[in-house]
Amino acid sequence: KGAFGFSDKISLCEEEKNIMDLIQKIKHGLMLYELEQENIYLRDKIEKKYSFENIIGKSKSMQKVFELIKIVAGNNSNVLIDGESGTGKELVAKAIHYNSFRKDKPFVPINCTAIPEGLLESELFGHVKGAFTGAIKSKKGLFENADGGTLFLDEIGDMSIGLQGKLLRAIQDREIRPVGGLVTTKVDVRIITATNKNLFEEIEQKRFREDLYYRINVIQISLPSLNKRIEDIPLLVEHFLLKHNKQYGKTIKGISKEALSLLMMPIWKGNIRELENIIRSSIALSKTNYLTTHELRELGTRPAAVKRTAFFETLSSALMPFIKDSIEKKEKNIYEKIHAEVDKYIFDYVLSHTKENQSEAARILGINRLTLRKKLKY
Ligand SMILES: Nc1ncnc2c1ncn2[C@@H]1O[C@H](COP(=O)(O)OP(=O)(O)OP(=O)(O)O)[C@@H](O)[C@H]1O
Ligand SMILES: [Mg+2]
Repeated sequence: KGAFGFSDKISLCEEEKNIMDLIQKIKHGLMLYELEQENIYLRDKIEKKYSFENIIGKSKSMQKVFELIKIVAGNNSNVLIDGESGTGKELVAKAIHYNSFRKDKPFVPINCTAIPEGLLESELFGHVKGAFTGAIKSKKGLFENADGGTLFLDEIGDMSIGLQGKLLRAIQDREIRPVGGLVTTKVDVRIITATNKNLFEEIEQKRFREDLYYRINVIQISLPSLNKRIEDIPLLVEHFLLKHNKQYGKTIKGISKEALSLLMMPIWKGNIRELENIIRSSIALSKTNYLTTHELRELGTRPAAVKRTAFFETLSSALMPFIKDSIEKKEKNIYEKIHAEVDKYIFDYVLSHTKENQSEAARILGINRLTLRKKLKY
């Protein structure tokens, strides 16, 4: 009998079958291994190029931000940083200061929203004794405190129009006059401002001075929202794990794949600050060496998304012993059998919903009626 003879053909088929079996076994083995490992992982390691100071980011947009920081750190121009709340504006301001020639002089931050309008002027420029009720002694302002260094004016969009004029003068003339004072003092201060408002709109609405805008915005750094750089999340998670482990005396090593994909859904409102808070609380809650959706669920974060994942977790933990058992028993067609098992529940439910009407059930399920009938015979 030749190469194409009958018996040859049979042995080839058996061989094929053996190989297919082997592939199936390897596949299932791998799947089990993955499930059992709980997928603890941190895919990315923080490489030097993915961080600048404490700022993490491998996304193109953040790489661009790093480049800009390096450039402006080397010169003395005023910088406007814009971005949504929690995108790292203050972090960037500090990175600029601590990489500039001013690094040994003070970095002085002030939040323009947090300070009542009347007080902000004297906070910035100081006051002389008796300038207003309660001014029992003269006091230096933040401009003088920051002399030689950097003044970081956060939420500049909230500064009153009147004070904006005084700020403009201080920046232009490089001198300040304390509230109630007659004498001006020279100051050498770099101004970095931040805003989460659209200053163009504010200018249009006559709430922000255009001339001040061009003074403070010599260079603009725009920070993208976290939803626009989802690819940064694994690195950020790793960074925050390292950062906060110590704080809680924990040694959490990683995060489950499910939990990480949950965090990578583009639904962040509070940006990186919110992500950091979630990681911090998860660390505090965790009783094991890694974070899972369990901790996220405990936090009650984004219930819909978490609930869905909880379902898949339940499903996988229910299926796991079943698969394992089938493999150990050297059963054939494991894939078909498991599917048939799961299908049974789906079909039963939908059919009872349609009062056993198969066409209607098929329509709901989005499958062919004949396919449904065939599957029901299993
Ligand atoms: N790229 C980043 N890498 C690491 N940590 C970051 C990053 N961006 C922000 N953070 C962290 O997130 C938190 C919020 O950052 P920051 O205070 O700089 O934001 P912000 O833009 O000033 O927010 P807000 O508008 O609410 O004042 C900080 O704890 C900061 O350390
Ligand atoms: Mg801030």
